[in-house]
Amino acid sequence: MQWEEPEMEPRPPAWPLLCLLLLCQSSCAGVGAQTYPDFKLQQPQSSEVVIKGDTLTLNCTVSGSGPVGPVKWVKGWGSDNQTVYEHKGSFPRVMRAVPDPSNDFTIRISNVSLEDAGTYYCVKFRKGTVDDVVFTKGGGTEVSVHARPSVPVVSGPSHRAVPGQSVPFTCSAKEFSPRDIRVKWLKNSTLVRAEPPHVTPELSNSSYRMSSTLQVKLSEDDVRSELTCEVQHPTLAAPLRKTYALHQALRVPPSVSVVAAPSGAVEVNKTVNFTCRVQGFYPGAVNVSWLENGTEMNTGNSTQPTETSRGLFELNDTVTVQAGEEKSGFKFTCLVVHEDQEPISGTGILWVTPPALGESNEGLIGDSKSLIYVAVGVVCTVLALLVIAILYLIRTKQSKGYTSRRRAAGPPPRRSLTPTT
Ligand SMILES: *[C@@H]1O[C@H](CO)[C@@H](O)[C@H](O)[C@H]1NC(C)=O
Ligand SMILES: *[C@@H]1O[C@H](CO)[C@@H](O)[C@H](O)[C@H]1NC(C)=O
Ligand SMILES: *[C@@H]1O[C@H](CO)[C@@H](O)[C@H](O)[C@H]1NC(C)=O
Ligand SMILES: *[C@@H]1O[C@H](CO)[C@@H](O)[C@H](O)[C@H]1NC(C)=O
Ligand SMILES: *[C@@H]1O[C@H](CO)[C@@H](O)[C@H](O)[C@H]1NC(C)=O
Ligand SMILES: *[C@@H]1O[C@H](CO)[C@@H](O)[C@H](O)[C@H]1NC(C)=O
Ligand SMILES: *[C@@H]1O[C@H](CO)[C@@H](O)[C@H](O)[C@H]1NC(C)=O
Ligand SMILES: *[C@@H]1O[C@H](CO)[C@@H](O)[C@H](O)[C@H]1NC(C)=O
Ligand SMILES: *[C@@H]1O[C@H](CO)[C@@H](O)[C@H](O)[C@H]1NC(C)=O
Ligand SMILES: *[C@@H]1O[C@H](CO)[C@@H](O)[C@H](O)[C@H]1NC(C)=O
Ligand SMILES: *[C@@H]1O[C@H](CO)[C@@H](O)[C@H](O)[C@H]1NC(C)=O
Repeated sequence: MQWEEPEMEPRPPAWPLLCLLLLCQSSCAGVGAQTYPDFKLQQPQSSEVVIKGDTLTLNCTVSGSGPVGPVKWVKGWGSDNQTVYEHKGSFPRVMRAVPDPSNDFTIRISNVSLEDAGTYYCVKFRKGTVDDVVFTKGGGTEVSVHARPSVPVVSGPSHRAVPGQSVPFTCSAKEFSPRDIRVKWLKNSTLVRAEPPHVTPELSNSSYRMSSTLQVKLSEDDVRSELTCEVQHPTLAAPLRKTYALHQALRVPPSVSVVAAPSGAVEVNKTVNFTCRVQGFYPGAVNVSWLENGTEMNTGNSTQPTETSRGLFELNDTVTVQAGEEKSGFKFTCLVVHEDQEPISGTGILWVTPPALGESNEGLIGDSKSLIYVAVGVVCTVLALLVIAILYLIRTKQSKGYTSRRRAAGPPPRRSLTPTT
């Protein structure tokens, strides 16, 4: 509406100048310039791209003599315009490139935001009685604001996974513009194939966000592997990278075995060390407890977990047991709890040499001696019986008439002496 006013106002005095207006139309820029034929306003940039946060320079110069009135910068045209800069007033982010007074009305807008996108006009006003009225304007500079993506964020699974499991990793970046963005995944600097990223507009519609998901099958050797997400965008001179250490997502359960020292059977009251060897686990913390034949016993002595060259951990936990006779055949079970998982167990068995075996050796010696005594006893008894029998026979003969005491007494003593020799 105000646009019309300059034409209406100068109309009555301009009637005689109509021919001049028609003549100069090709060379005169802007309407109303007819009264100031050598006035020129130049806004050379038709479009400009600026990166969010950077400084935007908008050029405008005037030359020749014009009407009294200010030069202003206006964003948009029509009802939703906005004065970006004028000499009076406060525009904190805007500065003149060349200080006033000057014909160079170039401005610099610092810390450009996405909302700064739009068309900017350099406008010469004519001082009016109430309001300034538009005298002439430049062709407009169309400003687009690009935005660098935020530093990517890589997230892993919410719970640690064991080797062999395939788990998702997500890389995301936001608030970038234009839409085209490329994402690369690297595992230990080796390119990994991934689906193209998912790009969606931000709520404001002026920029985008992206998210890229990669499935990784974990292995024991990944304790020291790294996953890298690399983002490339037209606003970036070099790609943005974010690295994720895979050990954060990995749980390697231990292998558990129990070793007895000394191995094999031990004598009563000797001590035996049962060592629980807990090997190849990550992260490096475990809780070890022991069961003596199924019931809880005192805790063992643990070594500090030591890190192996592969980045996994191991430790030994030892219980010392006195070999009571009644404990032979007892199972000593080591329970290893890793990362709140079900315990993993290993078992050793105590073998105690029965004390009866030691005594029975002595017993055997005793038995052999008594056997000899028994044998001797038996032989003597037999001989004694023989002597009695012979004596009986002799007496029977004597009763028949043969009397000889010397003969009868002679032979028996000789025979009874033979076993003792
Ligand atoms: C814009 O104005 C500045 C300051 O006067 C000048 O240095 C620069 O060369 C101008 N650029 C263009 C494209 O006219
Ligand atoms: C700017 O907008 C206002 C209304 O919001 C209007 O009165 C004025 O004429 C407009 N100016 C320009 C240069 O478009
Ligand atoms: C730039 O503007 C943003 C808001 O758009 C603000 O948060 C930030 O602090 C500003 N930076 C500087 C250097 O003024
Ligand atoms: C963003 O764009 C969608 C569709 O193009 C529209 O429905 C929505 O209102 C826009 N949001 C804003 C904040 O401009
Ligand atoms: C990745 O590199 C680390 C050392 O930089 C190595 O320990 C690991 O085994 C490697 N992982 C794979 C999967 O090659
Ligand atoms: C059992 O371990 C202790 C130390 O913990 C050691 O002094 C002892 O010699 C070990 N005994 C055997 C039989 O290995
Ligand atoms: C074993 O020790 C107990 C007491 O500590 C004792 O009574 C027993 O005689 C010992 N047994 C042997 C075979 O040494
Ligand atoms: C070991 O036990 C302690 C105390 O009960 C507990 O705080 C810790 O989380 C456990 N550690 C593991 C690896 O289970
Ligand atoms: C020890 O366990 C074994 C088998 O589990 C069982 O036969 C034996 O009776 C147990 N001994 C004791 C003293 O609990
Ligand atoms: C642990 O070791 C100490 C000294 O080395 C010893 O006194 C203690 O009895 C041991 N504990 C167990 C349960 O073996
Ligand atoms: C555990 O004990 C074994 C011998 O039984 C030894 O070779 C190993 O180094 C020990 N490990 C640790 C972590 O102490």
